[in-house]
Amino acid sequence: MTYDTLSSDGFIKAIGPADAIRRQFSEETFEERIDCSGKCILPGLVDAHTHPVWAGERVHEFAMKLAGATYMDIHQAGGGIHFTVECTRQASEEELFISLQQRRLPGLWRLQCMVRAGTTLVECKSGYGLNLETELKMLRVIERARRELDIDISATYCGAHSVPKGKTATEAADDIISNHLPKLKALCRHGEIHVDNIDVFCEEGVFDLDSTRRILQSGKEMGLRINFHGDELHPMKAAELGAELGAQAISHLEEVSDKGIAAMAMARCSAVLLPTTAYMLRLKQPRARKMLDEGVIVALGSDFNPNAYCFSMPMVMHLACVNMRMSMPEALAAATINAAYALGKSHTHGSLEVGKRGDLIIINASRWEHLIYQFGGHHELIEYVIVKGKVI
Ligand code: NIG
Ligand code: FE
Repeated sequence: MTYDTLSSDGFIKAIGPADAIRRQFSEETFEERIDCSGKCILPGLVDAHTHPVWAGERVHEFAMKLAGATYMDIHQAGGGIHFTVECTRQASEEELFISLQQRRLPGLWRLQCMVRAGTTLVECKSGYGLNLETELKMLRVIERARRELDIDISATYCGAHSVPKGKTATEAADDIISNHLPKLKALCRHGEIHVDNIDVFCEEGVFDLDSTRRILQSGKEMGLRINFHGDELHPMKAAELGAELGAQAISHLEEVSDKGIAAMAMARCSAVLLPTTAYMLRLKQPRARKMLDEGVIVALGSDFNPNAYCFSMPMVMHLACVNMRMSMPEALAAATINAAYALGKSHTHGSLEVGKRGDLIIINASRWEHLIYQFGGHHELIEYVIVKGKVI
C-alpha cells in the first residue's frame, strides 16, 4: 500500500500488492517507505465521544464511587460536572489549551495520549462552562487544537451538559436557544470557530425530553448535526426523540427501550456506546447485541472525561468485546468506519480506501486482533500512527 506523502492532500492513492504499486508509480512518488512485513496496517481509530477540555481533578470522586456513591449522588451534591465547571470557568484559555499538551498544564497532552493509542479522528465536546463565556472559551481551545495539531477533530457544542445552578432546565434551554446559539452561529459564519455537532445531556434531573427537543431542534436549524447523550441512567425515550429529529448519533443508551432501538435502526441514527462509563459506574451494559441484530450502526467512544479517564480506543474495544459481547471485527468497525459515520465523516474517514484520508496505524503483530486482545500497553504495539499521510 502506498499513500501520498508528497502533496499536501494526504489521501490514499492506491492499495495493492507491492509489485503492482511499484508498476503504477514512479520511484520518485515514494517520499518515505515503511517496511510492514510481519505487521498489520489498520485504519486510524476514531473516537466518537470525548470531553477533553477541562481543568481541576476528580480523582477523589473515584474513591467515593468505589465506596458506593452513584454518579447522580455526586452530581446532586455539587460534585461531578459542577465541580469541573467551576475549575474550567477559572482556568485561562491558554491553560486549557496547554493542558491538551503537557501533563502539569492539563489540554494537548490528552490529545497526544489519544494519538499514541491510535486515534486519528476524535470528537471533542465543550460543556464544562454552561455559561456562554466559558463555552466559547472551550470551543476556541478546540478550534486552536483543530488548527495546530495533527489529530483530526469534530467539534461539539455541549452547553446543555448540565443545568446551571439557580436555573431550571426550561430557563437554561431558553438561554441556550436565544443567546448561545445565535452567538455561535455568528462566530462560525466569521470563521472564528468551527462547530460540527450539538449535544444535550438528556437525563432525569438534567435536561428533560422537552428541553432536549427544543435545544436540538434549534441546533439543527443552524446546520449542526444532532449527537447527544441519552437513555444513560434512566429510560428517557431519548432514542425515539433522536430518531424523530434525524439525529446522527446518540451516546450511552444503557437504558434504551426496544422501540428506541427499532426507531434508531430505521432512522440510520448511530449508537455511540461507551464501555468505559458502564464499567466505571457499574451501570448495566448497553444492549450492543440487540442493537447489532436489529441493524443499528454501532460505534464506540472512549468518553474521556474526569469521570471516565481513558484515552485508549484499544482498551474501549477490549471492554466492548468482553462486557458487551461484541466480536472483534464488530468492535473494530465500531471504532473506525461506524465511529466516522457517527461524526458524519464516513465518506472521508474510517476505512482504508483509495481517495480516503491517509489515516492509519501500523501494529507490530502479524494478526490485527492483537490490538483488541492485548489489555493495555498499546504504545509498544502501535508502531506508527499516520495522519493524512504523515507519520506523527
Ligand atoms: O458522557 N453523562 C454526561 N456526561 C459525561 C460525564 C461528564 C462528567 O462526569 O464530567 C459522560 O459520561
Ligand atoms: Fe459524555
